[in-house]
Amino acid sequence: PATSLQDIIAHAKEYGFVFPSSEIYDGLQAVYDYGQNGVELKNNLKTVWWKAMTQVNDNVVGIDAAIFMHPLTWKASGHVDSFNDPMIDNKDSKKRYRADQLLEGKAEQYEKAGDEARGQALRDELGRLQGAEDMEGLRNLIISEGIVCPISGTANWTEVRQFNLMFSTQVGSVAEDASLIYLRPETAQGIFVNFLNVQKTGRMKIPFGIAQIGKAFRNEIVARQFTFRMREFEQMEMQYFVRPGTEMEWYERWRDTRLNFHKAVGLPAEKLKFHIHEKLAHYANAAVDIEYEFPFGFREIEGIHSRTDFDLKSHQELSRKKMQYFDPEINQNYIPYVVETSVGADRLFLAVFCNAYTEEVVGEGDAQKTRTYLKLHPALAPVKAAVFPLVRKDGLPEKAQQIVKQLRSEFRVIYEERDAIGKRYTRQDLIGTPFCIAVDYQTLEDDTVTIRYRDTTEQVRVPISELKQRIGYDVST
Ligand code: GAP
Repeated sequence: PATSLQDIIAHAKEYGFVFPSSEIYDGLQAVYDYGQNGVELKNNLKTVWWKAMTQVNDNVVGIDAAIFMHPLTWKASGHVDSFNDPMIDNKDSKKRYRADQLLEGKAEQYEKAGDEARGQALRDELGRLQGAEDMEGLRNLIISEGIVCPISGTANWTEVRQFNLMFSTQVGSVAEDASLIYLRPETAQGIFVNFLNVQKTGRMKIPFGIAQIGKAFRNEIVARQFTFRMREFEQMEMQYFVRPGTEMEWYERWRDTRLNFHKAVGLPAEKLKFHIHEKLAHYANAAVDIEYEFPFGFREIEGIHSRTDFDLKSHQELSRKKMQYFDPEINQNYIPYVVETSVGADRLFLAVFCNAYTEEVVGEGDAQKTRTYLKLHPALAPVKAAVFPLVRKDGLPEKAQQIVKQLRSEFRVIYEERDAIGKRYTRQDLIGTPFCIAVDYQTLEDDTVTIRYRDTTEQVRVPISELKQRIGYDVST
């Protein structure tokens, strides 16, 4: 049977990858914690991304901006005015829904029933009403389509209201003049406000990029599908500053480069696709998503957006600080255009995790059983290699410990002697360890060990001196 999201959630919890936040208090909706194996996998993904940006390109540098920013930032970016979802409440069940998602659900029903034309017509009307920010129109459409609340079964709906997705809090003590600030809903703005700091101090010449990894916060109303949509999550964003008029060329280049990245971390080509946006965000003149086929369907993992000079221009207006760059090649001052690549670290984690989760039927007849393992790229696995002594005596544990010591400075390697060797292999399979190294009596004689490969379960005898080279994999992006 196909892997379900439930299998993924259960495995992630059982083997220390992802736990519900504050679980002892029954959790907090749409917030999750990464466990001892999850944090390793996530850090490895972040490292691979960071290298793919700041090491592979000689004109991309990194920053680490604060989560709190001056409140005008979010006025300039458009988030105060436009980062809204249209919400509607059912008066009987007191449940709140996103008006656009109720209508999309209805359109999907038509399409599933074979009435493509009606589904499309509904989507077009939804797009028109959203574009016009016509809240009354949205409500009327929900009623005329006969949409009922799945809980109460009634169509007793409230008005549609705009609900801003930003979290706010106060700086300073409340007694003093407290001022309202937001938790950033995207990391991008920390890059825009630092554009000239980096450009000047780094003597950067256009085109160049600034990369950043950090937390972002959104008060998502519809929180479903595990870590796919969270209220606190992590983004890996890169803003590429270009000469106006060249943005489409860079947009296409980055779109392809980013797709290749996802293939390089192990996501198969047939489970990835582009989804070109027709309805563009307030800042973009072209946008495409890279989608991955999760157990619940194709969904966005990364967005590549051509953001024009929208953000820099708007910051220039509100801050009254010049955001211009002098381009020595054409002897002109201008506000650069920006091509952005934005991927959620948690979504990439979920995609990689879903893709790695493998169930295989092995053995025959009565001995048939299911073997479960995580087929992670070796460079991403939480544990690179586990070293086992065949038995717990005759100097084998000491020899195995020596090997651990030799490998430890370069790889995350563990020593394991509990239980029978078969059980040890199984335990490592479940967390995706690509290599298990076994020390036996022959090791004491000739300094060779066996490497057991996770995906094939094949075992090969090799000299200890070759181990580093045999387990040292990189993700080449
Ligand atoms: N700076 C552009 C920007 O933020 P976005 O499409 O809103 O664009 C970019 O977000 C990426 O951030 C998404 O492709 C997704 O991977 C991730 N992301 C957005 N909202 C998320 C959420 N609620 N939970 C987890 N990841 C999220």
